[in-house]
Amino acid sequence: MAVRPILTVPDPILKQVSKPVEGPVTDAHRALMDDMLETMYAAPGIGLAAIQIGEPLRVIVMDLAREGEPPAPRHFVNPEILWASEETQPYEEGCLSVPEIYDEVERPARIKLRYRNYNGEEIEEEAEGLYAVCIQHEMDHLEGVLFIDHLSRLKRESAVRKVKKAARDRDPAPARA
Ligand code: NI
Repeated sequence: MAVRPILTVPDPILKQVSKPVEGPVTDAHRALMDDMLETMYAAPGIGLAAIQIGEPLRVIVMDLAREGEPPAPRHFVNPEILWASEETQPYEEGCLSVPEIYDEVERPARIKLRYRNYNGEEIEEEAEGLYAVCIQHEMDHLEGVLFIDHLSRLKRESAVRKVKKAARDRDPAPARA
């Protein structure tokens, strides 16, 4: 397992549409998911899509365990939303690819989804609360959509500017001789 660098806005790779995993879930996919979880825990975060570490595959990891609870890693391969409630709920979201920026996004309160897990088994289940928010946020990443894309243009541009400036302050360009 390895912690991999997380891409941040405005990296154009984050805008790519991720491709489905074709065929069975293999050890290579499981190694990717292991790396993703290690990267997510190190950040720390509660969800990560493969594209955020530069792999354009429809793969997501998540852990919604609270502090003090044992880890509860979840793995999603080729997730699909089968149904979404008309009822929506707002939630203050953040994203490891848009660090330090938080804003409210309104999404369906409940969804039904289908995916394959770490072992390649097909699962269908309903999600609500934080689980529903997080899986919809991560599935947006698979379409190249970030949570700031749900905000006004003004808020989105301001968020990207802040992230760029923070990245510049963190690693200034090397001095040229
Ligand atoms: Ni995100």
